[in-house]
Amino acid sequence: MNDATARLDPHNTIADIDRRIFGGFVEHLGRHIYDGIFEPGHPAADADGFRTDVIDLVKQLGVSTIRYPGGNFVSGYRWEDGVGPIEQRPRRLDLAWHSTETNEVGLHEFQDWLDRVGSDLMLAVNLGTRGTQEALDLLEYANASAETAWTAQRAENGRTEPFGVRMWCLGNEMDGPWQVGHRNADDYGKLASRTAKAMRMLDPGLELVVCGSSGSGMPTFGSWERQVLEHTFDDVDFISCHSYYQERNGDAQEFLASGVDMARFIESVVAIADAVAATKKSDKRIMISFDEWNVWYLHNDEGGQNDKPEEQGWPVAPRLLEDQYHVLDAVVFGDLLITLLQHADRVRSASLAQLVNVIAPIMTEPGGPAWKQTTFFPFSITSRLGHGRSVRVPVDAGTFTSERFGEVATVNAVATVDDEGVSLFVVNRSTTDTADLRVDLAPLVRELGRDVSIAETHLLHDADRYAANTLTDRDRVGVRPLDGAVLTDDALSLTLPAVSWAAVRLV
Ligand code: AHR
Repeated sequence: MNDATARLDPHNTIADIDRRIFGGFVEHLGRHIYDGIFEPGHPAADADGFRTDVIDLVKQLGVSTIRYPGGNFVSGYRWEDGVGPIEQRPRRLDLAWHSTETNEVGLHEFQDWLDRVGSDLMLAVNLGTRGTQEALDLLEYANASAETAWTAQRAENGRTEPFGVRMWCLGNEMDGPWQVGHRNADDYGKLASRTAKAMRMLDPGLELVVCGSSGSGMPTFGSWERQVLEHTFDDVDFISCHSYYQERNGDAQEFLASGVDMARFIESVVAIADAVAATKKSDKRIMISFDEWNVWYLHNDEGGQNDKPEEQGWPVAPRLLEDQYHVLDAVVFGDLLITLLQHADRVRSASLAQLVNVIAPIMTEPGGPAWKQTTFFPFSITSRLGHGRSVRVPVDAGTFTSERFGEVATVNAVATVDDEGVSLFVVNRSTTDTADLRVDLAPLVRELGRDVSIAETHLLHDADRYAANTLTDRDRVGVRPLDGAVLTDDALSLTLPAVSWAAVRLV
């Protein structure tokens, strides 16, 4: 048993939370779109072919902004293929995932789906095989209100009003050798700067995201960010971070230190962005769009991408990246959400990669059910309860020794404060010991001038940390109330089993 103490002082504010921190990501990849969100003929499909059971689950998940259409896919994508009469749309080879893209779903259909799930669109432009002109064409098609050839085409395709997309990514992972059109930092920085300037001439209100590294382990990490920002500092608002985590060599304890890795990644990119600001004698602060994060069992550790179905030819919607998440994955995942909230001052946008079937919290079977993976629970609860501003919760707990990070705290926590109450999110990273956590609420009670009470509690834990939800056992893992959460003498006492994530709502 580990004794741990923490202090929840509502004045210990990190920042107001930008709701875009609870964003998602939908890529034309595997069965994400086709046989995922879109399956005409499925008993739950609506008149447009969208699965209403999936729509309900995405709504419950609570995703704010959704990045689309890729990912690696976007670096070979011709957006024009996805607009106009569906029966006339071309089938194309998708080099990123060795698949055939039918283009039955494009910009209009995706926006229609977003309207149903209640999320906002974040678009990525292709800076792999294409450049500034094609980005401008898409922007004009999507956002312009003047009468032009592109907006006339948009109206013909059923939409007179602009889509009004505010947030745009200038390509995807251009530092990755696997990326179609991969470039060095200098070449990409120049292209991104030119493209951003032109896009702003068309629509000054845009928020633009330049590509950072596709992982902090990339050999160019750091120098990539510096060089790219030297070119684009005045032109962009965000730099992206991407990071995926997995248990390696059966070392669950090391895997549970993933939040530390994410924190260091964010803090390093912030330091580089602010160093570039200093050299430019600028007060501007570049924000982080952590627009790909998740657990992903990337079987190929050589810096490539796994699971491409080369041996299957060029299939339509093959089963790719369909990771099955267990309890341990979800506990790490919950800690990653805590880490994002702990950096809400600079992480103003984040996208869980991805949403349906592809490294996803939601799974579907063609003609069959849709169900929640273990990672669904920490996301939906954090998104629902994590409102207002994020607040530091310093924890005094035991440590474990991580090979990569040295001494790592076994307990990590953050709180959010809004007009109706306070939410506490906490993880026990120990693989062996229960944590008895006492959270001092005296500063909170003083601030409110009244006692607080517990409105809801949630615990994600299982005696079998490798338990998962599957097609045949879809409700094997869920959350349950955190037994024994008690309030006494202005303190909240929680008992957190080893490898667990919990949330408590106080009102
Ligand atoms: O999310 C899966 C892939 O991971 C994305 O296409 C790419 O951007 C990243 O490498």
